[in-house]
Amino acid sequence: MRDSEFNLWAKDYDMDVKKSERENRYPFAAYKEVLDTVYSKVSGYEKKIILDLGFGTGVLTKRLYDDGHKIYGLDFSEEMLKISKSKMPEAILKQFDFSKGLPEEFSNIIFDYIISTYAIHHLTDEQKIKLITEILRNLKDDGAIIFGDVAFENTEEMLKAKEKDKDIWDDEEHYIISDKIAKLLPYLKVNFEKLSYCSGVLTIRKSD
Ligand SMILES: C[S@@+](CC[C@H](N)C(=O)[O-])C[C@H]1O[C@@H](n2cnc3c(N)ncnc32)[C@H](O)[C@@H]1O
Repeated sequence: MRDSEFNLWAKDYDMDVKKSERENRYPFAAYKEVLDTVYSKVSGYEKKIILDLGFGTGVLTKRLYDDGHKIYGLDFSEEMLKISKSKMPEAILKQFDFSKGLPEEFSNIIFDYIISTYAIHHLTDEQKIKLITEILRNLKDDGAIIFGDVAFENTEEMLKAKEKDKDIWDDEEHYIISDKIAKLLPYLKVNFEKLSYCSGVLTIRKSD
């Protein structure tokens, strides 16, 4: 999907998520559990520096912002940016396409966590690996990259999920397949938690 399509979706996004979540259907089955899982990995007493890739309407980002963490974010949709900026005036949110990596002004920042929910499936596996490799340079040694999304342990799980509601899957999306990502990044610690038939949380660390 392009930024213009997300601009059109921005106004109805939260409502559409709720409907898909309520029906336990792709793409937002277990949306709350996915966001809660990412939140629980990041939150804590200490204030952290967090980058959110594709923050959208800021459902998760705002919780972290309200907890007092330092929030940075990238999203290429002007309308999503408007909504999130109004909720988080002190956050550093920028309109930017993260398939190009990080913008120049973020390049010297070291983050405790780099998170992304329901956005990374717009990148091909090759683009995902390129992005992960680049943002690792901006991640603390004991930090983590955490992706909550439509995601699977392996290809068989994805094919099984796609059997359900065959007509609603989007052929242009590239869902996270944990064992593929782990094979492409053998020098990193990759962990996957399945949260529904079509979603889960992938955590990537430099070491245990
Ligand atoms: C489905 S929404 C998810 C929003 C939010 N993270 C959530 O969990 O509800 C995907 C968001 O990622 C943004 N996005 C998708 N691809 C992007 C890219 N290449 N660069 C920047 N933003 C992107 C879209 O504009 C949109 O706001």
